[in-house]
Amino acid sequence: MLPLKLGGCVESTARVHLYDFIVTSKAELAEEIWRVVICSPELSRTLRAGQFINVDVPGDRSQLLRIPLSFASIDQMAGEIELVVATVGDGTRRLAAMAVGQGSTVVGPCGNGWRLPRSEESRVLLVAGGVGIVPLLAAGRELAQKGIAFEAVIGARSASQLWGEQEFMDIGASSVLVCTDDGSKGFHGFTTQALQATDLTPFSLIMSCGPAPMMAGVAACAHKAHVFCQVSLEQMMSCGFGACHTCNVAMVAGGYKFCCTDGPVFNAEEVLW
Ligand code: FES
Repeated sequence: MLPLKLGGCVESTARVHLYDFIVTSKAELAEEIWRVVICSPELSRTLRAGQFINVDVPGDRSQLLRIPLSFASIDQMAGEIELVVATVGDGTRRLAAMAVGQGSTVVGPCGNGWRLPRSEESRVLLVAGGVGIVPLLAAGRELAQKGIAFEAVIGARSASQLWGEQEFMDIGASSVLVCTDDGSKGFHGFTTQALQATDLTPFSLIMSCGPAPMMAGVAACAHKAHVFCQVSLEQMMSCGFGACHTCNVAMVAGGYKFCCTDGPVFNAEEVLW
C-alpha cells in the first residue's frame, strides 16, 4: 500500500442548525436527474465535502421526514449550494418541482465528510454510480484546490441517465471513464468490472459513492490492490441526528455505527459488506 497521509476527518465542527433556503435555479441534467441550486448563505459557509443536509420539501404533509442530500458544490460568495437528485421518489420529485424563488427549511451541516490526502504526491481515484457522483464532485473540487491529481470512473444504467462526465473534466479530473450497464456509452458494464480490468496500484486513495453492491465491489478491488478506500454510504435515514437507529451500518469489528452521525463517509475496510 502506498504511504498516505490523510487530513483529519471532517467532523461536524460547525453545529447543526435549522436554516431557511430558497431555490435559485434548477435544470434537468439527464433522464430523472435534476440539479437544484438553493441559497442559504450561513449554511453554505459551514459545509465540507462529503457532509449532507436534511431538506424539508414543501408539499404532501404525509411525508414528514426531511430528505438527506449530498451537495456537488458550494458557492460561498453567492451563498449557494448545488444539489443534484434522482427523481425516483416522492420527496425528490417534489424538490425538483419547487419553483425558483420558493423556499423551505434545511438542517445542516450533517455527518462527517471525506478525509482528503495531505500530499500533492497522492493520486486519487473517484468511483461513482448514479447520483453517487454528487459528493465525489465536491471531493474533486477540494482535491483540485489542493493540487492533488484525481481520475474518475462514473457509471449509469444507460447514456440517457448519465451525467457528470463534463462536470468532472471541468473541475480538473485527469481522465473520466464512463461506464453504462447497457453499453450505450463508454465501457459496457459496471464500474466494478472496469476497475477489475484496471491496475489500481498507482493510486494512493480510492473514494466511492453509489449503490451498495457497487461500493462493496469497489472496496473489494481496493483491498485486493492494497489501496486505502473510503466510501460514502447511502442508508435510509429518518431523524438524521442519531436518535432513531434506522441508518445502522454493520461494522467488521462488531456492532453498528450510525450512517447519519458517524458517516456517511467510512473507511471501506471497517464496513461489514
Ligand atoms: S437517521 Fe436516525 S439515527 Fe441515523
